[in-house]
Amino acid sequence: MISVDASKCTRCGCCIADCVVQVIHRGKDGIPSVPEQFERYCMHCQHCLAVCPAGALTCDGHSPDRCVPAGPLPDESRMMNLIRQRCSIRQFKQENLPSEIMEKLVASLRWIPTGCNDHRLVFTVIDDLAKMEPFRARMVKITRFLIKSGIMKIVYPGYKRFEKSMLGGTDFVFRNAPHMIVVASPKDAPCRRFDPSIALTQFDLYAQSLGVGTCWCGFAYYAFTLNRGMRSLLRLPKGYKVGAVMLFGPPAVEYPRATDPEPYTVICS
Ligand SMILES: Cc1cc2nc3c(=O)[nH]c(=O)nc-3n(C[C@H](O)[C@H](O)[C@H](O)COP(=O)(O)O)c2cc1C
Repeated sequence: MISVDASKCTRCGCCIADCVVQVIHRGKDGIPSVPEQFERYCMHCQHCLAVCPAGALTCDGHSPDRCVPAGPLPDESRMMNLIRQRCSIRQFKQENLPSEIMEKLVASLRWIPTGCNDHRLVFTVIDDLAKMEPFRARMVKITRFLIKSGIMKIVYPGYKRFEKSMLGGTDFVFRNAPHMIVVASPKDAPCRRFDPSIALTQFDLYAQSLGVGTCWCGFAYYAFTLNRGMRSLLRLPKGYKVGAVMLFGPPAVEYPRATDPEPYTVICS
């Protein structure tokens, strides 16, 4: 809940105006507060804390001095470079990312938005090359089973070209990536269909701005969703479902230019 330092508060009303659920009210003395009967509607988004020009408001124990002041943003052209040059990396150096890069990536997760600020996502981060091995080993076993049982022919008719290397144990799913991030959301989260993809889209851009290679992994998403054994490697909390998977690590390839994709259909009306 919020507490306001009356000696700093200018009674400007910015916190009241910006409260999305309109639970902040002005008291008789002009100081904002959340009446007890409205507390349960608070989304804990901390906008009141962030917007207060005087730094007078503490929200859920988060005081202004714990917050990073607003700083310069990437300029438009650099942001556009990032959007244009971001691409899937499928060739990775067989080494771990430096620990300070891994720490930055993990630290950035706090600011991922979720519908209704649900904020209950769970991230599994495989932070060491060796820890990817159990996932690969199980995937190779599953792939062999899918081929031998004839299921692969049904789900992926084009697999024949890769059959020999698949049976030989080539890693087509995890692509020898040294790291992986898996996002899971609770089954009852209001926006559980969107939150995980949004989370990894943000992770993707930040990672690539740090020179980290990334690749969405839809195959792994299906493997975790459909195969209990694969899922059990993640040790997810009860009631959670895998929502999205991304591979990452030091890239072993460089692209001297961006691609030139076909424009999507954009309907302006
Ligand atoms: C939801 C989703 C799932 C994907 N799954 C895989 C995957 O399992 N394996 C893979 O190599 N690439 C995967 N990709 C990468 C796409 O093939 C890639 O984004 C697309 O070809 C465009 O290329 P770019 O990312 O280099 O711009 C996936 C992308 C998305 C958005």
